[in-house]
Amino acid sequence: MNQPKRYTITAALPYTNGPIHIGHLAGVYVPADIYARYLRLIGKDVAFICGSDEHGVPITIKAKKEGVTPQDIVDKYHAIIKTSFEDFGISFDNYSRTSAKIHHETAQEFFKTLYDKGEFIEEVTEQLYDEEADQFLADRFVTGTCPKCGNEEAYGDQCEKCGSSLNATDLINPKSAITGNVPTLKRTKHWFLPLDKHEAFLKEWILEGHKKDWKPNVYGQVKSWIDDGLRPRAVTRDLDWGIPVPVADAEGKVLYVWFDAPIGYISSTKEWADRVGKDWEPYWKDQDTKLVHFIGKDNIVFHCIIFPAMLKAEGSYILPDNVPANEFLNLEGNKLSTSKNWAVWLPEYLEDFPNQQDVLRYALTANAPETKDNDFTWKDFQARNNNELVAIFGNFINRVVVLTDKYYDGVVPEASEFSAVDEETLAALKAYPEVIASSIERYRFREASQELLNLARLGNKYLADEEPWKLVKTDETRTKTVMFVALQIAAALATLSAPFLPFTSDKLKTILNSNSNGDDNSWHDVSSKKVLLPAGHAIGKAELLFSKIEDDAIQKQLDKLVASKKANEAANKKLEPQKETITFEDFSKLDMRVGTIIEAEKMPKANKLLVLKVDTGIDVRTIVSGIAESFTAEEVIGKRVTVLVNLAPRALRGVESQGMILMTESEDGKLVFVNPDTSTAANVPNGLHIS
Ligand code: 2FM
Ligand code: ZN
Repeated sequence: MNQPKRYTITAALPYTNGPIHIGHLAGVYVPADIYARYLRLIGKDVAFICGSDEHGVPITIKAKKEGVTPQDIVDKYHAIIKTSFEDFGISFDNYSRTSAKIHHETAQEFFKTLYDKGEFIEEVTEQLYDEEADQFLADRFVTGTCPKCGNEEAYGDQCEKCGSSLNATDLINPKSAITGNVPTLKRTKHWFLPLDKHEAFLKEWILEGHKKDWKPNVYGQVKSWIDDGLRPRAVTRDLDWGIPVPVADAEGKVLYVWFDAPIGYISSTKEWADRVGKDWEPYWKDQDTKLVHFIGKDNIVFHCIIFPAMLKAEGSYILPDNVPANEFLNLEGNKLSTSKNWAVWLPEYLEDFPNQQDVLRYALTANAPETKDNDFTWKDFQARNNNELVAIFGNFINRVVVLTDKYYDGVVPEASEFSAVDEETLAALKAYPEVIASSIERYRFREASQELLNLARLGNKYLADEEPWKLVKTDETRTKTVMFVALQIAAALATLSAPFLPFTSDKLKTILNSNSNGDDNSWHDVSSKKVLLPAGHAIGKAELLFSKIEDDAIQKQLDKLVASKKANEAANKKLEPQKETITFEDFSKLDMRVGTIIEAEKMPKANKLLVLKVDTGIDVRTIVSGIAESFTAEEVIGKRVTVLVNLAPRALRGVESQGMILMTESEDGKLVFVNPDTSTAANVPNGLHIS
C-alpha cells in the first residue's frame, strides 16, 4: 500500500474471564502499542482500538463455577484488565466492551445486513446436546479428540494443539464439559456463513496478494486451511449469554462469540469517534486506511479467514493489510496457563516490581515470540534489566547527566569543531530513526528494540573512547564538544525510546528538560535537526532510569511458581472416594485410645514396616506399622498417637501386630500421625490411613 492516509490498529479483544498475563502482553499488546506509538510519533493519523470480549462460553463456565452471573464476571475482569492496560502504558485510543449498547447494535446490524443480502445459509442440523444439563453443546462446552491431530482435549470450536478450527460435531468421542456426559444429537436451526463461497476471493487476496508481506507463520497457517477446503461455519448458537440473533424465529439464539467479537473493533472505533468528534467510517471503509490486526496465533483463522469473509460479504469495508500474529510465550519451560495459575499476572507483577512496567515491556519485546514459541525466564528478565537497561541505557544517561551537572551546572555546553569521530557519531545517530522505523514497519519489534539499545551502546562507546572525565583536566574546549555530542545522543534516546519504554522516555525528557515549551523532538527531528538539545539549554537533575534487580527478587518469583505448581498438583490429586456408609453401631465398635510410642525398630528386610511398642494407657503392646518410608525408628519414639486397640491381632512377617496407628496425609502427600495434641484435621484430603 502506498502511503496510507490513516491507520486502524486493532489488538485482540481479551476474554474477560481472568486478568492479563505476560503472554498476552508479549504476544499482542506490547507490539501493537509500540506500533501505534511509533506511528503517532511520525505524525500519522491513528486509531488504536481494543475492548473486552465479554461473550463466549469461557465466561459462562467461569460464572457457573463461581456461582455468580456472567455479568458479574465480565464487570469484574473488564475493570481489572482495563486498569492493567493503563498501568502498562498500552495507549489505546479506545477501550470498549462487547456488552456495550453500541456494540450490540453494531453487531446486530452487521448480522442483519448479511442476512438481508442472503449471505447466510439457514439450516436445521443435528447439534450436540447435553440431556442432563438441558443444553446444546458448542465451543468450550464440549471437548473431544481433534480429527486433525488426535489431541484428546480439543474444544468444540478449535483445537489449541494444531490450531484447526472445528465444528463441535467434528470432534471424536465428544464429552460435555458441563456434566461429563456423552452428548446426544438434537435438531436445531442456525445460520451459517458459507466460507466455501469466499474461497476464491480468499485465495486471491491472501495466497496471491500477501505471500510476501505477511509473516510466514501466518501465511502458512492460512494456506493450509484454504488448501484443506473451507466449509460453511455456524455464526449463531443456542445459548443464553450473548447478543440475541436479530431476526424472527430466533428465540434463545445468540451470535457466535467469534462473529460478534471482531465487530467489537468496529463498535469500539465508533465509540471513540463519537467521543472525540470524528467520523468513524473512513477508519473502516476508506481504501487509504491501513488496517492491521495484532493477535496471538490461536486467533489467526478468525482474523484471516472468517472476519475478512464477513467484511467482504458486507461489502462496504476494507480488509486488513496485515495480521502480524505472534507465536506463544512459555514461562520457565511450561505453557502459560490461566487455569493452572502458571503465569505472571500483571497486577501481581506491579506489586512486586512497582514502577517497573518498562522493564517488563522491554524484556518481553527483546524476547518476543515473533517467529516461534519462546520462553520467558526470570533469569533472562533479570539479565535484560541488569545487563542492558541498567548497564547500557541507564549508565550512559547517568554519566551524561551527572557530568553535565558537574562540569557545567547542568547547562548544555557550546560545541567547537567536531572531530571525525564526532561527525561519524552524529551521522550514526541520525541513521537510527530510519533503522528502527524499518524494523517496526516490518513488525520486527525485537530487532527494533535491539537497535534502540545499539544507540545507547553508541553513546557508551563514544564516552569510553573520548573520556571527558580525563579530558576535562587538559582540554576544556574539547570536553565541551564531547559533552555536547553525548547530550545529543541522550536526547535522541529520549525520543526513540518512546514507543518501547514510554515511562522511561517521559522520565528522560524530564531529566533533560526537553519536553517543555513544545520543544519536544519528533521522530524525524532526530535525523533531520542539526541540534536536538541546544547549547545553553538547562537540563534537570540526574535520576536513575533503571535499578538493578537483585537475586532475591528473582528467587521470590521462582518460589511463587513452585508454590503454584504444588498447589496445582494438590488440587489435581485424585481424592479417594468416600467409603461405604457405616452405622453408628458400627462406629461405636471401634475402641480408639491415645498412646505413646515408647520403642521402635525397623522390621528386618521390610522397607515399609516399623515394629513399635506403644503404651496405650491400658497396656503396652506391639504394633507393626507401615510407616517406615515416611519416618525413621528414632524419630517416632515419644510420639503421641491415636491407636485402634480392638482390631483383631494379625501376624506380619512373624510378628503379631496388636492394633493400628491412625495416620493421615498432609497436603504435600506425606504421612502424618493423627496426634491428639495437634490438629491435623484441617486438611485430610484422603481420609484416615490405618497403618
Ligand atoms: O482469544 C481471545 O482472547 C479472544 N477473546 C480474542 C478475540 S479477538 C477479536 F476478534 F475480538
Ligand atoms: Zn488438532
